[in-house]
Amino acid sequence: MSDAPDIYPPSQEFAARAHIGSMAEYEEMYARSVEDNEGFWREQAERIDWFEPFTTVKDVSYASDDVHIRWYTGGKTNACYNALDRHVDAGKGDKTAFIFEPDDPNTQEARHISYAEALRETKTMACVLTNHGVKKGDRVTIYMPMIPEAAYAMLACARIGAVFSVIFGGFSPEAIAGRIRDADSDFVITADQGRRGGKTIALKANVDAALQKTDADGPTVRHVLVVKNTGGNIQWHESRDVWLHDATPEAQTTEASGGCPCAHMDAEDPLFILYTSGSTGTPKGVVHTTGGYCVYTSMTHEYVFDLHEDDVFWCTADVGWITGHSYIVFGPLINGCTQVFFEGIPTFPDAGRFWDVVDKHGVTIFYTAPTAIRALMAQGDALVTRASRASLRLLGTVGEPINPEAWRWYHETVGDGRCPIVDTWWQTETGGIMLTPLPGAVPQKPGSATLPFFGIQPQVLEAASGEVLDGPTEGILVIADSWPSQARTVYGNHERFVNTYFTAYEGKYFTGDGCRRDEDGYYWITGRVDDVINVSGHRMGTAEVESALVLHEAVAEAAVVGIPHDIKGQSIYAYVSLGEGYTPNEDLRAELRQHVRTVIGPIATPEFLQFAIAGLPKTRSGKIMRRILRKIATNEHDALGDTSTLADAEVVDKLITGRR
Ligand code: WT7
Repeated sequence: MSDAPDIYPPSQEFAARAHIGSMAEYEEMYARSVEDNEGFWREQAERIDWFEPFTTVKDVSYASDDVHIRWYTGGKTNACYNALDRHVDAGKGDKTAFIFEPDDPNTQEARHISYAEALRETKTMACVLTNHGVKKGDRVTIYMPMIPEAAYAMLACARIGAVFSVIFGGFSPEAIAGRIRDADSDFVITADQGRRGGKTIALKANVDAALQKTDADGPTVRHVLVVKNTGGNIQWHESRDVWLHDATPEAQTTEASGGCPCAHMDAEDPLFILYTSGSTGTPKGVVHTTGGYCVYTSMTHEYVFDLHEDDVFWCTADVGWITGHSYIVFGPLINGCTQVFFEGIPTFPDAGRFWDVVDKHGVTIFYTAPTAIRALMAQGDALVTRASRASLRLLGTVGEPINPEAWRWYHETVGDGRCPIVDTWWQTETGGIMLTPLPGAVPQKPGSATLPFFGIQPQVLEAASGEVLDGPTEGILVIADSWPSQARTVYGNHERFVNTYFTAYEGKYFTGDGCRRDEDGYYWITGRVDDVINVSGHRMGTAEVESALVLHEAVAEAAVVGIPHDIKGQSIYAYVSLGEGYTPNEDLRAELRQHVRTVIGPIATPEFLQFAIAGLPKTRSGKIMRRILRKIATNEHDALGDTSTLADAEVVDKLITGRR
């Protein structure tokens, strides 16, 4: 595709109908959003309903000795009320909120769930929670498959003011236990089993195993609320476990007598905690609050996806990630939109599933990850073209940089050259989309997340000096000022929040990403600049995988690096040195890879595991030289760089010979 264009302006047809239909309009609104930042965000706050008005729009300090981020203080609202009640109150109860598309289309039926039904189910679940003693501010852990009850669980917590912590269904008992402990959570919502790609996932069994760990120092979790999904066999703990269907009649009585109304939450009351990996230590519980999160997710959802009343939106993420929180649950529901809620995976029953579902439900806006696009691209065009995809009008991507080849395939083959693509850069910590083209206004360049969303002030810094670089340049991506859905703290550890995001460059939010800015002011994310690996759009900390490895009795020391991978973007390459008495062999290699899977979850499994027979390369002060390990892993040992600080140069030669 050497004659393919470098720039794709919005079509006139798309622009004519778009909320923001020209570059001039985008530029004007953007200028206003930064010049009169508070006035801009005061107006935008009107898109949600408030029980009581806020008194201050913005109260923010990025100074490292006093980091605080507050938006809309004094205001009272409720995320569930904005997502469900208000639409039903306004007579939109019959509109479809979710089109549930099940894992196996041959044995399960799709279902349309109206806003009224979603509200009913959510209220029931909220009353079940209160009947079991869950109160405002309590932390509720949610470990669910991709069934609508996962959304109801989140909304039910929001309704009563409980802080939910969703754990992706692919995480291990060990990971669940760690998050339950960290959040000091005494209530868990799960399902008997989940379905994915024709397989069942033992969710309840994983929760049981996790609670065995947390119970080791005396029981902490009082109740496990279980949704019957597959009806498969599970173990039951009489005093602790509660079936949702058993608790429902009582909850309905509570509800009928006016129980479980929407709690009046302060704009700055926490809405949820979501764990994400960083460059050091265990995953951090990023805290998002209520008012600003609702304003920003619904606003970005409307503008970035150019949402109209008749759209059918489909975000293929799992609710276990921030993408699912912001663009399956809160943004779309607050906007009262109809969306596909998908239980399955892109390759089951075959790799044409996405496009079949697009036709089946008339999807107009489709949002997925580059890793999925690359995987499906590798399966050939016939699986795409067997579906008409005629309903599609806009495509989106998120999670990692998209290579131009995959972008063009998405554009030409999936979108028939007709649909703009929004490449959206953002993070768990940002709560919502930060860099993106507005599809009716901003010409797209394959591989670039293009320009900032309204109110977002990106800067590129010189890494070493922290100097702000102007014009076309390359460096560290920071954000100079706050926006309403920014994470407020790390749960229980504000100091860690400050150290992670506000000490690298004083007065700026440090994203952890590198980027290039071109002559048109477009941003091109070049990837993480810290020890975070992006595997299939999911963040993995090298330290986390290393800690998992050293938990194994055979492992003396481990070092992990990320290497490029055609489909996943990056994959994990682990170096392991063994303890006394252990000999490297294939069985042990398989066992160690499996061990990481068990400790963290399948996404953390090292693609390659090399035994470091002579040890790991270290400086004389004992620091592992990851830079060298990265080069060896990618077979660039001619470009190792300066090795003069190595304590023992021979170690490197041994590693090169033993490369996987
Ligand atoms: C990291 C955040 C936000 C939802 C998904 C991931 C990378 C994300 C893009 C993009 C290039 C991207 C960054 C970022 N990333 N979107 N469009 N282009 N890189 O959330 O797990 O918090 O990861 O994902 O490196 O820092 P997350």
